[in-house]
Amino acid sequence: MAKITKLDDIVSLCKRRGFIFQSSEIYGGLASCYDYGPLGVELKRNVRNAWWKRVVQMRDDIVGLDCSILMHPMVWKASGHADKFADLVTVCRKCNTRSRVDHLADDGEEHTAHVRVEAAMAEAGELARKKCPACGAVGQFAEPMAFRLMFETEMGANVDDTMTLFLRPETAQGIFVNFRNVMDSTRVKVPFGIAQIGKSFRNEVTTKAFIFRTREFEQAELEFFCAPGTDDQWYEYWKAERFRWYTDLGIQGENLRLREHDPDELAHYAKGCVDVEYRFPFGSGDWQELEGIANRTDFDLRQHQRGMRTMNDWYEAGRDLTKITLKEEDADYIKGPLSYFNEETKERFVPYVIEPSAGIDRSTLAFLVDAYDEEEVKGETRNVLRFHPDLAPVKAAIFPLVKKDGMPEIARKIYDDLKARFTCFYDEKGAVGRRYRRQDEAGTPFCITVDGQSKEDNTVTVRDRDSMEQIRVGADQIRGYLMERLGM
Ligand code: GAP
Repeated sequence: MAKITKLDDIVSLCKRRGFIFQSSEIYGGLASCYDYGPLGVELKRNVRNAWWKRVVQMRDDIVGLDCSILMHPMVWKASGHADKFADLVTVCRKCNTRSRVDHLADDGEEHTAHVRVEAAMAEAGELARKKCPACGAVGQFAEPMAFRLMFETEMGANVDDTMTLFLRPETAQGIFVNFRNVMDSTRVKVPFGIAQIGKSFRNEVTTKAFIFRTREFEQAELEFFCAPGTDDQWYEYWKAERFRWYTDLGIQGENLRLREHDPDELAHYAKGCVDVEYRFPFGSGDWQELEGIANRTDFDLRQHQRGMRTMNDWYEAGRDLTKITLKEEDADYIKGPLSYFNEETKERFVPYVIEPSAGIDRSTLAFLVDAYDEEEVKGETRNVLRFHPDLAPVKAAIFPLVKKDGMPEIARKIYDDLKARFTCFYDEKGAVGRRYRRQDEAGTPFCITVDGQSKEDNTVTVRDRDSMEQIRVGADQIRGYLMERLGM
């Protein structure tokens, strides 16, 4: 049976121990924006690094990219975001609260960005029997309207050359528009992938549950380009591979599932889409989207080929996206600038794309929730974060038992040696039991204590976070011992 953790416990631990704070807290906070504190920044970086290691570093067929957040406005015309990336919203006539129509659905499912309006349209006819989540009034909703999710900003200092830009709502498009650059500057051959981690922004109508849905967040996206006809096989491959990434990093299998989208849930361009879902301790059904894996077909590359052909219209329309329509493809689209030529088979095609799209903040929350444990130890409650060693913000804490008798000097020497290899923490204040408890709450896998015996036989104790067992290890072997236990 899966353990149920209350989200409030996680939020409180995160604040107390410096994982996550409300943004701009001294000014009353900024809704749905969060700051990662000293432990949180390490945890989040470890999540990011674990994704990068698995998706880029360990593979020969995937390269990385880091695109700018601000991109040419035509990118969003071609991708469909400028015209369609909106939520259908309605306002409660009783309390004036704005709600996403698809969130008034009974199933409470999270919908992939592009299909939210479609999903919401299906719900709109049902508004007469829906309940306002804020005041509880039934059937009091006004006519739904579209609410654009992209944040706008102005670029340029002069009136003549200022341009309205969007903060990117996904990192994926930066990959598509660099497809040719990567092809021309590397030796990649289809099938291959381009991966990117970076910030995305969406002016979400409703934000939710701590860092689960925020307006500024980080995505880790892979666009895996393959030949048409091989896409179904790659889709299956990435479903299994992405699921395994979470379980390999310690997420308990019973808290994770794959949910295949129904055909009517799919975005118009997607041939298939599956969500990796985690059993979060909130929401209507608990199961919530952690990552989406979609077969995006050749849609995006073809759309950008159309976008490139529409550039003149954009200039002529005074750079107003609302006044232009993307030019249709010509019959030769297959030979376009974003196509691929297979030297061996002498075939040219526009690659299909399998896209695993994960959220770094959302995964961080899942890793926190899954690692959180409370247990009774000698009549007291022990809070412990049982992080996988790769994710633990601090790998080892080093303590002198007392602040005298040469113990701090030995402990400092060990600390100085270890901190060059991984993140460590030195602490000489307070009772050692209290120091252990603090490290349990931070998820530190090992605590090393220098005690009276250390001076006599040059050994130290190593305490294991999960079992709380202690063993003695030679001070000069401690580095090798820890690196092995940490899987380094
Ligand atoms: N390129 C495809 C795409 O962006 P998505 O389902 O809209 O698909 C992918 O987003 C992932 O990004 C989600 O599964 C989630 O982990 C994360 N994500 C999306 N919106 C988010 C938000 N407002 N706050 C936090 N994470 C978000």
